[in-house]
Amino acid sequence: MNNDTRSKLSRTTVRLHWLIAFLMIMLLASGLYISTTETFALMPWHKSFGVLVFGFAVFRIIWRIKQGWPEHVGNYSRMERILSKATHWILISGTIIMPVSGFMMSAMGGYGVAAFGIELFPTNTGPGGPFDFVAINENLNSIMRSVHSLAGDLILITVALHTIGALKHHLMDKDATIRRMLGAETHIRSTYE
Ligand code: HEM
Ligand code: HEM
Repeated sequence: MNNDTRSKLSRTTVRLHWLIAFLMIMLLASGLYISTTETFALMPWHKSFGVLVFGFAVFRIIWRIKQGWPEHVGNYSRMERILSKATHWILISGTIIMPVSGFMMSAMGGYGVAAFGIELFPTNTGPGGPFDFVAINENLNSIMRSVHSLAGDLILITVALHTIGALKHHLMDKDATIRRMLGAETHIRSTYE
């Protein structure tokens, strides 16, 4: 596996970024769609891809611990550096908080969790039949529902700011931030190189 450098990000960093970004945007959109329109037929897909993101996210966090965060392309202001670091922390934490809270909400609500047809946590049903779901822990179910919903809103806003920030680098600062995350080798000239 190649390593991240200031002028070129590893293929692992680039592929994980775009794969997880795509899945996160789809999951945020599908979660909001399912809960506002009550299209629960889509829920098995939401759960399956949510569990999948968790797997990639754990791998990515181990990779980030080994590599550190990518160094900035330019010499940005202190404010810009703080904002971008805070954004990256919220987004990467969200890739763990969302699947864990979703899993706990479903499991504790008695609805069970399956990923691509493989049962990970059984349903808990009452005498009324296979759709008579009985909560295992109602308190934890409702706490996790709130966490999933509030964290979902926060992450949605953060993704928007993150995307606007990335576009600002590309269109206004005209620097290599986006091109580097697309795998390009950049020739960075700065005062401390
Ligand atoms: C179309 C949408 C997106 C664009 C254009 C974009 C662009 C970028 C760029 C250019 C960087 C490099 C920043 C730097 O060099 O300091 C970056 C880093 C990062 N992005 Fe995104 N991003 C998008 C969506 C997302 C989403 C949905 C997530 C949610 C998980 C995310 C999470 C991160 C994280 C955690 C980093 C830090 C570096 C890493 O761990 O890979 N991004 N993004
Ligand atoms: C990265 C992964 C995930 C993201 C980004 C995500 C995002 C969302 C969002 C934005 C909502 C709408 C919340 C609201 O009503 O405000 C939602 C709903 C929901 N999610 Fe997820 N989710 C993820 C993973 C999971 C997982 C792994 C499960 C279960 C195993 C799950 C189960 C649910 C359930 C049951 C709802 C419906 C809540 C309701 O309206 O009753 N999610 N999700």
